[in-house]
Amino acid sequence: MRPEDIDWGNLDFNYRQTDYSFVSMYRDGKWDDGELTKDHNITMNECACVLQYSQSCFEGLKAYHTKDGKVVCFRPDANAKRMHDSCERLEMPPFPEDKWVEAVEKVVKANEAWVPPFGSGATLYIRPYMFGYNPVIGVKPADEYMFRILVTPVGPYFKGALKPVEVTIPDFDRAAPHGTGGIKAGLNYAMSLHPIMEAHRHGFNENMYLDPATRTKIEETGGANVIFIKDNGKTLVTPLSDSILPSITRRSLCYIAENMLGMKVEHRVVYLNEVEDNEFDEMGLCGTAAVISPVGRINNHGKITNFKSGMDEMGPTLTKLRSTLTGIQSGEIADPDNWVHEIK
Ligand code: PLP
Ligand code: COI
Repeated sequence: MRPEDIDWGNLDFNYRQTDYSFVSMYRDGKWDDGELTKDHNITMNECACVLQYSQSCFEGLKAYHTKDGKVVCFRPDANAKRMHDSCERLEMPPFPEDKWVEAVEKVVKANEAWVPPFGSGATLYIRPYMFGYNPVIGVKPADEYMFRILVTPVGPYFKGALKPVEVTIPDFDRAAPHGTGGIKAGLNYAMSLHPIMEAHRHGFNENMYLDPATRTKIEETGGANVIFIKDNGKTLVTPLSDSILPSITRRSLCYIAENMLGMKVEHRVVYLNEVEDNEFDEMGLCGTAAVISPVGRINNHGKITNFKSGMDEMGPTLTKLRSTLTGIQSGEIADPDNWVHEIK
């Protein structure tokens, strides 16, 4: 498939091979300069650390066209920093953060034809990832690593983007206390595959995980943080926990709520029973892929919580937050803090 064959307005969230990826190798204690490659397959030893012990982490960000025709991405320095933190926790050598951002620029520029047109609703999803490459059989970190960036054009993560989803509370946990929930390790997603398939088999869009120690507090979903709105749109509440991913979208939304929309922001422990007692008017899932997806209903083993905003449309406050965020991203609203990173 070529970019000219894509129906941008109807794109789903699936992988499509583009022209170039970026690849760099870590050997003898250092990263090489890296280069663009047209080879989208990887050959490695059967005993590679990533295949045996899942030593891998990744990131996700997006590039898109602004109204005035520039190609930009959103807060890549924050992704670079988070990948640094993931690497440290997994005993992997971080790719230098400035070079990381340069590599993102390089691979996006090389795939410019795949950056969707302004206003199409599609974006170029950028997936940097790193893994332990050389063979190990005793449980230990690899000595050699591959860092790659693939890009692929995508539409909304949830079909119908603005249509509310229904989430369920799984019987499984996402991350152990003091575990890897706070980093973007591939293993966190491997463990979510069975629960998400179970959720889909029961007709739900996503799982909302609880804290594994007490199973009374809200954590996050398999691929997004959660935010709640209360007090008639005056307050945004978002769960505080060491074992959820520090979402860049969530942090940006909290800034927007507080500094641009005059809202109060509470970053605190959120108990499931507060949610089930209808303390909140709106609930949303936020992340790079999800942007903000509204949640209309929670089904906790048959105990239903309906949000005031309902199952038909996104509530008014999430709508305002979403349009402010996407307005900043597309250059229509003034950028509050150098978030929009120009590539071309
Ligand atoms: N939580 C999880 C588990 C995720 O996979 C993601 C996606 O990156 C997020 C939250 C949202 O993070 P961000 O807004 O940085 O994309
Ligand atoms: C992202 O939002 O970038 C993610 O990595 C989430 C993933 C579930 C697609």
